[in-house]
Amino acid sequence: MEKTLLYREVAERIAALVAGGTFRIGDRLPSIREMSRQAQVSINTVKVAYSHLEDRCLIEARPQSGYYVCPRPLELPREPKISQKSIEPQGISSSKLVGRLLKDILDGEKIQFGAAIPDPELVPARKLGRILAVSCRNHASESIGYATSPGNARLRSQIARWMFKAGCTLSADELIITSGASEAVFLALQTLCRPGDTVAIGSPIYFNFVQMLQLLNLRVIEIPTSPTEGMHLPTLRQALGTNKIACCVAISNFDNPLGSSLTDARKQELAAMLAAAGVPLIEDDINGDLSHDDERPSVAKAWDREGNILLCSSFSKTLAPGYRVGWIAPGRYLEEALHRKLVTNIASASPTQLAVAEFLANGGYAHHLRVIRKAYAIKLARMADAIGRYFPQGTRVTRPAGGFTLWIELPADVDTVDLYTRAETKKITFAPGRIFSSTRGRFRNCLRLNGAFWSEKNRWAVESLGRMAAKLCEEHS
Ligand SMILES: Cc1ncc(COP(=O)(O)O)c(C=O)c1O
Repeated sequence: MEKTLLYREVAERIAALVAGGTFRIGDRLPSIREMSRQAQVSINTVKVAYSHLEDRCLIEARPQSGYYVCPRPLELPREPKISQKSIEPQGISSSKLVGRLLKDILDGEKIQFGAAIPDPELVPARKLGRILAVSCRNHASESIGYATSPGNARLRSQIARWMFKAGCTLSADELIITSGASEAVFLALQTLCRPGDTVAIGSPIYFNFVQMLQLLNLRVIEIPTSPTEGMHLPTLRQALGTNKIACCVAISNFDNPLGSSLTDARKQELAAMLAAAGVPLIEDDINGDLSHDDERPSVAKAWDREGNILLCSSFSKTLAPGYRVGWIAPGRYLEEALHRKLVTNIASASPTQLAVAEFLANGGYAHHLRVIRKAYAIKLARMADAIGRYFPQGTRVTRPAGGFTLWIELPADVDTVDLYTRAETKKITFAPGRIFSSTRGRFRNCLRLNGAFWSEKNRWAVESLGRMAAKLCEEHS
C-alpha cells in the first residue's frame, strides 16, 4: 500500500514539474538512478512512476537514451460539469436508439465505440474455452443439470472470497448467481418496487437501467452526478426528505457512463443516509475490478450493517460478457430475491458457472486483471488525447480512473443523434448522450465512447467523429 502511494507521489511531482515548465517538451528527464537519488526513493519506485507517466502519455521512453517529456504533452479538454439539478420525479421516454446500439454489436464491420463491451483481445477467450471444456468433462452431470438457484456453490464461495478485497464480509450463502449484472439489477428492482413507485438514480446513468425502470412502470428522480465525485449526496438527501422513494440505484465505482467513483467516506455516507431513511440501495459494482491502478476500491456494501444494500456485479467487463455470469448479494432481501429468481428461470446456465468458478480459483484472475487494467488505462489516455486533438473547441471529456468508457460533452447546440446518423455512414458507432437519462433531451450534446476499442488503427474513427462534430458545430453557429 505504502509503495503504491509513493510511486504515485513521485509521478505527481514529475507531472507538476512538467506542467510548471521546469521540464519542457522534448527535455530529457533524470535517469532512473538519478531520480531515485534526488527523490530519495527506490529505483523500483521511480521505474513504476515513469511507467505510470508513460501510460498517461506525459513522457516517453526512447531506446538507449532515456525518458523524455512527450513532444505534445497531454492537453486534455476540460472535464464536463455536474449534470443539472432537478429532483422532480419524471416519467420515462423510451428510446429506439438503444435497440439500434445493441444491434450494432453484431455488425463486425462497425467500429465498436458504442456498447461498453471489452476489447476481444483482452478477453482470455482461449483459456476460458479450455477451462470450460475441461470443467464440463470433469463435472458432466453438473454441467448439463440445473445449477438451481442460488447457483453453483463453488462459484459463490469464490466470489465471496474475492469481494473481501472490496471490504465485504460475505458468505457464499448470501449470494445468488444471475445471468449477468443486468438480471441482478432487474431482480433487485422487482424485489423492491411496485408499479408507480419512485426510484432515485444517478444522472447520467447506464441506459439499460433507464429501460428497466420504464419496463417496470417506475418513476425516476435523477440525482446529478459529477464526473469527478460521483452522485451528489446532498441532493439525494434533499430528495429523500421530500419524496417517497422506493430505492436508490448507484454505480459506486467507475460508473457508466461518467467513470466517476464515490470516495470511501461518501460510500459510507450513502450507506448510512439510506439506512437511516429506510430506503434500500441497489449498488452496481460491475467495474470495481477495473481500477486503472492496482488498488481494488471498496463498495458501499462494506458499510452495510442492516442488509440494506443489494450488491450486484458480473464478469462481463473483466472476463466474457457472453458467459452471462453475474451475481447479487441481496442483503435482507435474500429470500424474496431467491424466490423471484427461481420462479423466473430456475437457474442461470451451468457450464459457464463451472468455468468462471475454476478461473477464479486457479486461472490467474488477479494476474489477468493487472494486465487489462493497465491496457485500459493506456487506451483511455490515448483516446482522450485524440479527442483533444480532433474534436471541436469547447468539447469536454472525462478522465476516469477505471473502467473503459469516456463521456464527452460537445458544445451545447450539437445533437449527438445527428452525429450518430452521420457516423453510421462511416460505420462508426457510439452511444448518444440522451439515452443515459429518463428526461427527454437531457445530455443531447453528449456522447459515450467505448475506449476498449481504441487502437492506433482506429484513430481515424475518432478523427472522423471529431471532424463531423466540428461540422455540426459550424452548421449551428
Ligand atoms: C453499470 C452496468 N451494469 C450492468 C451492465 C450489464 O452487465 P451484464 O452484461 O453483466 O448484464 C453494464 C454493461 O454495460 C453496465 O455498464
